[in-house]
Amino acid sequence: MSSFATSGGAWYLMRASGVVTLILLTGVFVLGIATTSRWRTRRLPGFAALSLHRSISLLAVVFLAVHIVTAVVDPYAAVGVVAVVVPFVAGKSALWVGLGALSLDLTLALIVTSLLRHRLSLRVWRGIHCVAYLSWPLALVHSLGIGSDTGTMWLRGIAGACVAFVVTAVVWRVRSAEGSAKHLEPRAAHHPA
Ligand code: HEM
Repeated sequence: MSSFATSGGAWYLMRASGVVTLILLTGVFVLGIATTSRWRTRRLPGFAALSLHRSISLLAVVFLAVHIVTAVVDPYAAVGVVAVVVPFVAGKSALWVGLGALSLDLTLALIVTSLLRHRLSLRVWRGIHCVAYLSWPLALVHSLGIGSDTGTMWLRGIAGACVAFVVTAVVWRVRSAEGSAKHLEPRAAHHPA
């Protein structure tokens, strides 16, 4: 967004923290899939993937907070406090900021329900956790739609790599779910309900 391009330090911090948040959320997404699909290697056992998933998600929240605070205090971005959480009400770039706000709301729901996981049933927690499949693409579209660096090769490269990681993880998740369904079929035949 070129009209933001004349701001000072806050603007640079907003861009940098936005890109770091996108990379971290990609890592969180991929590690989340690795955890649910029981993907593990000798170098990355299941418990390590889970613990990385948790710690990187909290780190992502820190960078996301920096991104949002700088978007509010930067005089050119000047996103209103309400527009941070209420989608599509920003004065400038309402659509792109709104997609960021929507992604933020969903990310917050993921984090809060995960922190309260011991109070929720597995079914409720899992159902809410599925919004990750929506919050990540929203964050990506927001980043590409509003970013000042969208036209640069480096941001396109980072975004392309993030998409490649997420698509690979999702395809792998679907295949492994199909694999375990097939694996269970003969057992079901032996043990009718
Ligand atoms: C999960 C949520 C989010 C992620 C991953 C994210 C990520 C990004 C990225 C990568 C950029 C492009 C930086 C650049 O190259 O210029 C960006 C730009 C921007 N974001 Fe976010 N963002 C998120 C949420 C939000 C929210 C909630 C707001 C509202 C305050 C917001 C406001 C902005 C603004 C105003 C810009 C334009 C920066 C510029 O001038 O280029 N973002 N964001």
